[in-house]
Amino acid sequence: MELSPEQVAQFDRDGFLLFPNLFSEEEVDVLRRETDRVSKIDSEMVVREGEEEAVKIMFRLHEEAGETASPAFRAASRTNRVLRAAQQCLHDDDLYMHHSKLNMKAAIEGSAWMWHQDFHAWHLDGIAKPNMATMTVVLTEATPLNGCMYVLPGSHKEGRSDPRLDESTAYKLLVTKTSDMKDYMKRLPAPVPITGGAGTAAIFHCNLLHASGHNLSAEDRGQIFFCFHQCKNRPADLENPRPDYVRSRNWTPLTVGPEDGVIAAGRELAA
Ligand code: SIN
Ligand code: MN
Repeated sequence: MELSPEQVAQFDRDGFLLFPNLFSEEEVDVLRRETDRVSKIDSEMVVREGEEEAVKIMFRLHEEAGETASPAFRAASRTNRVLRAAQQCLHDDDLYMHHSKLNMKAAIEGSAWMWHQDFHAWHLDGIAKPNMATMTVVLTEATPLNGCMYVLPGSHKEGRSDPRLDESTAYKLLVTKTSDMKDYMKRLPAPVPITGGAGTAAIFHCNLLHASGHNLSAEDRGQIFFCFHQCKNRPADLENPRPDYVRSRNWTPLTVGPEDGVIAAGRELAA
């Protein structure tokens, strides 16, 4: 997949692009089997929440080795559809993955993500310039009832706001202050929900404001996030960096893999 110049201009203007059904049903099926497998792993990279200790986040699925490594998610992150789109949106062919995470929201209990900019945290990781983008793929149908993500168009042009720490869920998150959010929402276009069938995807800029609500439905929600960054803009050395699974030090440029990589990984896993 090669984005058109109009799509790249749209990303620059709005801060995001939507891709209905970017991954096929067959590919989603493989990725969901991997989701089930990794969610049973006991690791600090698997964050749980709620009465039933359901999974909220699984980190670092994209690497070749490691407790949560998944060949199928690794293959997904390197498809032309994903990696080439990130290269085009960031106007740079030399990208690495700052992190990958698979966000679950368990039926009834899965918690919200308050409005935030990802660059709130990534700036504190020692990254100077906000030129990062995340490709996210929904692995279950995304609806307002099950806590789909919303984005605020054009908000990436507002610069980085001064955040506050939200400790209301199992994963502490730097979020946008309420007074700032009210101001942005008065001035900017209405939030856009990232809805659609499993396999639908979106790429969004690291300063784009986004959020998602509680999962009020009876089905678990799953959504993968691949966060791409320019090799040349890699983080400065820090005294106390966050763990490698959220602030990767694998700064080797990524290369595009086969388009059928997810299906091939699925066959290997089943063998
Ligand atoms: C995030 O913004 O990092 C997560 C949003 C979601 O999983 O809905
Ligand atoms: Mn985010």
